[in-house]
Amino acid sequence: MNVKLENIVTRLPKVKILATGGTIAGSALLNTQMSEYKAGAIGIQTLLEAVPQVKDYANITGEQICQISSNNITDCIWLQIAKRVNAIFKDEDTDGIVITHGTDTLEETAYFLNLVVKSSKPVVFVGAMRPATAISADGPVNLLNAIRLAGNPLAKNKGVLIAMNDEINGARDATKANTSHVNTFRAPELGYIGYINNGEAFFYSASLRKHTFSSEFTIDDLGELPYVEIIYGHANDSRILVDAAVEAGAKGIIYAGMGNGSINEKAEEGLIAAQKKGVIIVRSSRCGNGTVKGGPIQYSEENFLTGDSLSPQKARILLALALTKTNKLAEIQRMFNEY
Ligand code: SIN
Repeated sequence: MNVKLENIVTRLPKVKILATGGTIAGSALLNTQMSEYKAGAIGIQTLLEAVPQVKDYANITGEQICQISSNNITDCIWLQIAKRVNAIFKDEDTDGIVITHGTDTLEETAYFLNLVVKSSKPVVFVGAMRPATAISADGPVNLLNAIRLAGNPLAKNKGVLIAMNDEINGARDATKANTSHVNTFRAPELGYIGYINNGEAFFYSASLRKHTFSSEFTIDDLGELPYVEIIYGHANDSRILVDAAVEAGAKGIIYAGMGNGSINEKAEEGLIAAQKKGVIIVRSSRCGNGTVKGGPIQYSEENFLTGDSLSPQKARILLALALTKTNKLAEIQRMFNEY
């Protein structure tokens, strides 16, 4: 039997890159400058030209969504990115999507997409800790690895992924854990879900929490997210910031409490007053690890909800999405238990 060569050559995956800026697109005057640079200065085409090898692994197209330092990301840009991702998976023949992003809020954008992308195909976030102009910049190899991961069928069904420094993290549990080291993304106690070795991905675990195609949250018709504020608990705390958040129109407050979500008594007075005005209160923790469940009996009597093991910044995202669907306390608590 004659088999034509083109029929046995494996087709390259189609990967779309959505670029948003960050240090991976950062530029400095000197190649020795690692922390003084302009984030988001370089466009997607120039980033790709720095890694011509990507063409050996995928057919790539790129789009520039924005060119910012990620500390300036907004709910509005999140909605724009999420709608674009859903539209690409619905309308275009694409195997996976890579999103280049500043590392400062990368975990937040990744978790938002983890809750609202309606596809099991890979969505991989990637950034860098050294600007593109630096000696030993980490961006090019991170980008190459992320593109290969996005085109890899093994990366399907795992929720939104973060790939940097040869490590694969899940969007729900990873956080930026070091201000300047290249191995900054970690899920300190729950761990990496995989490694990249010589460009190849190896998976070992995945979050059991609901995500992407199994999520109930939809953003197609949303123009904005409900305003949810985070209040960071500390010794000698007061109710000043709680009252200010309510005054500013917060629909929900995440209290980043001490230990198991403990609340200072003065802040608690403010939170009870806020709740009487219909603001949803969720206790989370500033510890960085562990779950917030239960706690002193008075908190449950006051109907404060608990944020499970989500960091305060991720609890904010889940509460905002929950509030697009319901104000019922039991329903919102169910969501915190499931996502
Ligand atoms: C940013 O988040 O845009 C700047 C920092 C970084 O990308 O590492």
